[in-house]
Amino acid sequence: MTSRIGFGIDIGGSGIKAAPVNLSESGQLAAERFRIPTPYPANPESVAGVLVDLVRHFEWEGPVGIALPSVVRSGIVHSAANIDESWIDVDAETLFSSLLKHDVVVMNDADAAGVAEMSFGAGAGCRGVAITLTFGTGIGSALFVDGYLVPNSELGHLEFRGESFERWAAASARKREGLTWRKWARRVSRYLQTVDALFSPDLVIVGGGASKSAERWVPLLDEVRPEIVVAEFANTAGIVGAAMASVRT
Ligand code: BGC
Repeated sequence: MTSRIGFGIDIGGSGIKAAPVNLSESGQLAAERFRIPTPYPANPESVAGVLVDLVRHFEWEGPVGIALPSVVRSGIVHSAANIDESWIDVDAETLFSSLLKHDVVVMNDADAAGVAEMSFGAGAGCRGVAITLTFGTGIGSALFVDGYLVPNSELGHLEFRGESFERWAAASARKREGLTWRKWARRVSRYLQTVDALFSPDLVIVGGGASKSAERWVPLLDEVRPEIVVAEFANTAGIVGAAMASVRT
């Protein structure tokens, strides 16, 4: 089988990570992932400079998929919960494609992670309603019906006590407030109960940075009805999903 290679970039709060991805063989990276610290301020221009460096590092020639922690519709950024406000209303696809001189697809980071899990990981073959939730600085979500993505679901911003749920139940809240794993798992359980009450998912895939320590908190989840599975692409899901989207251009 000839291999089909895509290229994905995941823009995060602390690092911007990229790699070519082998899309014909279970979404494995085709080269070691390369990370550049996110510049400060992380505005569109400074981030674009890093993207140019990443593409150059891999000497990549071809379409590029980019995952961003925002609502993205038709390449335009519509929210900035954990990134610089100057991203709002930016046509990120046009900006990046003119600088990178390649076709570019920009999508929400959790949607990208979910696409990777549903295609090659913990959700492969799942019918019905499946939700990937990423626990990191915020809570990202990707909603699937029979394997089809409903983009930009933003379930981390369900309201809880007058704020976004992510403020209280993201992995960053555990660190910020010095919570034990048990206390934090109680919060995540509460969050999962809310998601269940609204969407009745058949499967929930828990991912993001916190999935690297899944054995410390997933067994502590309590009174959660849907089947919970741990993401298989902890660090690389965003890159893989973005790379998959790029080859559809
Ligand atoms: C953002 C989402 C993003 C999630 C994870 C949230 O604060 O609103 O767009 O997917 O963080 O990065």
